[in-house]
Amino acid sequence: MAIIKIKNLRKVYKTHKREAGLFNAVKSLFVRHYETKHALKGISFEVQKGEIVGFIGPNGAGKSTTIKVISGVLFPTEGEVNVLGFTPWKDRVKYVENIGVVFGQKPQLVWDLPPIDSYHLNKDIYGIPEKVFNKRLNYMIKLLDIGDFIKTPARDLSLGERMKCKLVAAMLHNPKLVFLDEPTIGLDVIAKDKLRDFIKDTNKRYGTTFIITTHDMQDIERLCKRIIIINHGEIVYDGNLKHIKSKALSSKVLDVKLLESKDHFKLKGCRVLKVGKYGMKIKVDTNVTSIKKVMDYLVDNYDFADLTISDPPIEEIIKKIYEK
Ligand SMILES: Nc1ncnc2c1ncn2[C@@H]1O[C@H](COP(=O)(O)OP(=O)(O)OP(=O)(O)O)[C@@H](O)[C@H]1O
Ligand SMILES: [Mg+2]
Repeated sequence: MAIIKIKNLRKVYKTHKREAGLFNAVKSLFVRHYETKHALKGISFEVQKGEIVGFIGPNGAGKSTTIKVISGVLFPTEGEVNVLGFTPWKDRVKYVENIGVVFGQKPQLVWDLPPIDSYHLNKDIYGIPEKVFNKRLNYMIKLLDIGDFIKTPARDLSLGERMKCKLVAAMLHNPKLVFLDEPTIGLDVIAKDKLRDFIKDTNKRYGTTFIITTHDMQDIERLCKRIIIINHGEIVYDGNLKHIKSKALSSKVLDVKLLESKDHFKLKGCRVLKVGKYGMKIKVDTNVTSIKKVMDYLVDNYDFADLTISDPPIEEIIKKIYEK
């Protein structure tokens, strides 16, 4: 069942531009020069219930703009948006009961209050029954490990602590659909893991649908089966992450553990990435040389203890697509 239907969505920003300096500041009060920015050039996609979709693309591609429009924060210039049967910017009040939104870059908790107070506020706003509220809160406190600081005013929390608390605030009412705009920005490795586990767990347990934007490819690899890549306001890829991995790069990486030290690995279509006393790493262009040929060559010439074959890192693939 499609819970998000977007058709031909366009967003044009109109900003007024002025040169630096006091004279120009005064002048701009009388003469305004407008500049238009086509942030979204007619994008269309659907999202099914229970999906975790990675929305990725380079800086300025239009990711946040898309999230803002579909979460109802921003009007589009043109196009159709239907989310859970609502038109986000029209049915805003009813709509927000069904969604959760976290903007990694924006403060969203009440600054002077400890998160726990914000949570109680949300409880009242959304009319969450006491029992349900306590159960959910405890579950989230445990999973995100935030028990120690939910009584500290938000302004005194570290970036990562605040992010986790924000996520809880956005999800206490158990929304069907959650938009996360760079949720792992600035978090340490452990905090990132916790957050990802939380997203995965919630998705499994409640069938919650997630749309996530990120620049961290580990987020994508860990969470998303499907990715949508946007560049210059247009969707350049929408599909399976695995599929793009195999399609975009016809190469494999071989990690060989050697029993003897030996160099001079030379085979067409292969590049030695790293070589040490007890191992080497080789990149194979499978359009030129098959994996079987490489294996045969290794068996004939080397004594090795172990061998792993893997895909090149996702970062490399994405970079290639962005550059195109
Ligand atoms: N309020 C605004 N007024 C004018 N232009 C804007 C506004 N917000 C965004 N833009 C422009 O629209 C384009 C898309 O911006 P957007 O924030 O959606 O990008 P993004 O994909 O989220 O990038 P990033 O990865 O840097 O967060 C950019 O060129 C940006 O400068
Ligand atoms: Mg953004």
